This record gives sequence, structure tokens and C-alpha cells, in this order.
Amino acid sequence: MSEPQPREETSGEKRAVTMEKIVNLCKRRGIIFPSSDIYGGLGSTYDYGPLGVELKRNVKEAWWREMVQTRADVIGLDSAILQHPRVWEASGHLQNFTDPLVDCKSCKQRFRATDLTEPRCPACGGEITESRQFNLMFKTFMGPVEDTASTVYLRPETAQGIFANFENLVDTQRVKLPFGVAQIGKSFRNEITPGNFIFRTREFEQMEMEFFVKPDPAEEERWFHYWVEERFNWFAKYGIKREHLRLREHAAEELAHYSRGTTDIEYRYPFGWGELEGIARRGSYDLDQHAKHSGRDLTYFDEEAKTRYRPWVIEPAVGVDRPLLAFLIDAYDEDVVEGEERIVLRLDPRLAPIKVAVFPLLRKAGQPEKAQEVMRVLKRRFMVAYDQAGSIGRRYRRQDEIGTPFGVTIDHQTMEDDTVTLRDRDSTSQVRVALNALLEELGRRIGWER
Ligand code: GAP
Repeated sequence: MSEPQPREETSGEKRAVTMEKIVNLCKRRGIIFPSSDIYGGLGSTYDYGPLGVELKRNVKEAWWREMVQTRADVIGLDSAILQHPRVWEASGHLQNFTDPLVDCKSCKQRFRATDLTEPRCPACGGEITESRQFNLMFKTFMGPVEDTASTVYLRPETAQGIFANFENLVDTQRVKLPFGVAQIGKSFRNEITPGNFIFRTREFEQMEMEFFVKPDPAEEERWFHYWVEERFNWFAKYGIKREHLRLREHAAEELAHYSRGTTDIEYRYPFGWGELEGIARRGSYDLDQHAKHSGRDLTYFDEEAKTRYRPWVIEPAVGVDRPLLAFLIDAYDEDVVEGEERIVLRLDPRLAPIKVAVFPLLRKAGQPEKAQEVMRVLKRRFMVAYDQAGSIGRRYRRQDEIGTPFGVTIDHQTMEDDTVTLRDRDSTSQVRVALNALLEELGRRIGWER
């Protein structure tokens, strides 16, 4: 199951952004906090603050729109985190969802054997133990008795909820091949070496889609390439530079137990190239396994061919947290506006946590009241910030730093002719817009319909 560690970049352009800058910005502005902060944090778990939760909602929305809402061949699902333990027996996770674990005999640090380049401890040079297989699933108990019979697992992937519901979905939804089932939800893995902020954590969210096709190599090939391209373009569409993305095919020994071919979409993080998303060919592995273990048929009836079979599966599987991190990193910029340095997050407006900030230029002459009236109207459509503290330049900077794409300023002219200035975060240019056209103009600029 070992996923390789991000590889260090050896060449290419220098980037202003570092992980330290991203982590600091996230903490300072309430995007992401270390979890249980007042108790010193808990082994790489994180909490999303008021801005982070909006960003996360928007990343999920961008995925759901593309993968479900705007398509005719994909349906949604929200299955439980706790499944019958036999799900994990059938799926092979109890047996195979393991990483090879080694300990340092001197400093006691633990590593994944596959991450070590030498047979010594990378921290202190000490001798390391033989490697042993460590299952990554978190265990808990269902009900008051804590014994083997009541052991259940926190799901390590959302995918199995889809396979376990295959019969329910086919029976109730009148679906025809090829079709997909998409789901977003939390997954848990007791990772040996979490790290790099939200890149690898023990609790994270996934956005997965199982795309069922006829069991035919040509169909599998066609849809596999289709999904690799679709998913690559999704990242570019929402703001990741194409030169920061690349495809990497898994070597045979890296493949997960259920996969007979996987291509990763990798992103160039400040710490090196690392996985964003994996697109796997799962064949009929999962349906076959669940059929065997549950005694159910789990076939699909092909009306045209008048025959039953278990479809094959192409699976584009991505986290929420990793793309969110990549969107933040790619959006991060520092420039100089009117002689003053600023940090600006050039997030796609669709992803930006706050879409528009409303400012009264002065804290008098009816401007705050007017600005609050404007804010109330805009709030029905968008996440809106209101700020009347400090100079207008400083207020713009505060919004630039969190990626707010538009600023609306109410000034003395507004009080006379009901127009406002509309400022663009990236160009800092301003235009005058009539208040009765503002909602439409903002809707057009933020536009999900692109
Ligand atoms: N159902 C297939 C599956 O789970 P995976 O490659 O193990 O495949 C899919 O996971 C995606 O989930 C990864 O590409 C990554 O974006 C995210 N992911 C996996 N483990 C993660 C972790 N420990 N922390 C954060 N994200 C993780």
C-alpha cells in the first residue's frame, strides 16, 4: 500500500512560496489550525477555520459539479464511515492494507521501510529492526463490549461503500453502463509517517468516483484515458499551472492490492513532486470479492446483449485536503502595489472563501449604513466580508491575503448616484458600477458556468 514519499525537486524555477509561508498564513488568517492546539496538537490532525471551511466547501463543490451535477452518467452516494467488518475482509484491506514498518533501535523513531534509502536510521544513523507489516486501518468497538466480535474499522477509503451498495444502486436507479457513482467523505489511515502539513494526515477527506464499464479491454482503455485527461484538466481549470502538474504511472510493485494499473496526477509541492490524485483500473476485483464473501450475485444485466456480468471499474480517487493545499500554494504570490508589499492569494473566484468584501470609505456620512445594506443584499448570494477598520489600502491588503477576488467601496459618490467602486484583487483596477447592476456583475465575474 506504500505510497512513495514526495520526491525532491532538483531543477526548475525558484518559487517564492514555501511551506512555512503557507502554514503561517493558514494559522494567522484562520484557514487551518493544528488540531487540539491548546494541548500541543495531536499527531498531524488539523482543524479548518472559518475561511478554511469555506475553501474546502468550494473545492468539494467544484468536484461535485464537474463529476455529478453537470453529467448525465454519474450519480451520488453518501455511505457510512463504519461498515460491516466483512466489507474490509472482502475488499482485502484487512489482509493487504499494510505498510512495512521499521524502528530505530537507538532513537526509537519509526519509518516505512520503503522510505529508507539506506539500512540505517535516517535520524540518528542507528541500527534498524527487521520490517514487519502494519495495518493502516483504525479499529474501534461497536457496542459496550470491547472484544474481537465487536471490532469495527474506520473506513480507509470511501470506495467500498459504493461497491457494497452496487446492488441497491442498480436496482433503484435504472442506470445503464457506463455509469459512475461518486462520493465525498472522511477516511482514516493510521499512517506511520504523516507530515508535510495537510499532505499526509491520519484523518482526511476523499472525493472518489467508481466508473463502471463493460468488461472489455478496449472499453477499459478508452475510459481510463478519458478520466486521466478529465481529472488533469480539472486541476488546471481551477487554477493550478499546467507546468506544476504531471502524470506518473505506478510501477508493478507499487500497485495497491486491488489495482492492475494506476496513474497518479502529481503536483509540484514546495517539498517536491507528490501525489494529488490516483486513477486506478480496479477491474471487477471489488465486485467479485463482495460477491464471493456476501453470497450475492452483484452482476449487471446487459439488456442489449441479454447477458449478466460484473462490470469493470475505473476509479479517479482524490483527497480534498491535498488539492486544497495545491490550490493555496499555486495561488500564493507576493507583489508590490503602490510601493507597498502585499501577499495575495490569486485563487480562482469560484474557490475563494470570501467572494466580495464591502467597505465604507468613511465611518460617517451614512456610508457604514449604506455599506451594510449592500452587504445584506450580496450575502444572499455569496460569502461576503465587511470591514470598516483602518485605511482603505490596509483593508484591501487584508482581503488580498485571503484571496477575496472583489472589493466594493461605498464612498461619497455612492450617496449621490447609487454607484460603487468594484476593485479586482489581481489587477487592483477599479471600475464604477451601478448598485442595481452589482449582483449580476459579481455573479458573472465569479461564475460557476465557465
Ligand atoms: N480508493 C482508492 C484510494 O483510496 P489512494 O491513492 O490511497 O486511493 C486517494 O487515495 C487519494 O486520497 C490520494 O490521491 C490523496 O489525494 C488522498 N489521500 C490518501 N491518503 C491520504 C492521507 N494520509 N492524507 C491526505 N490525503 C490522502
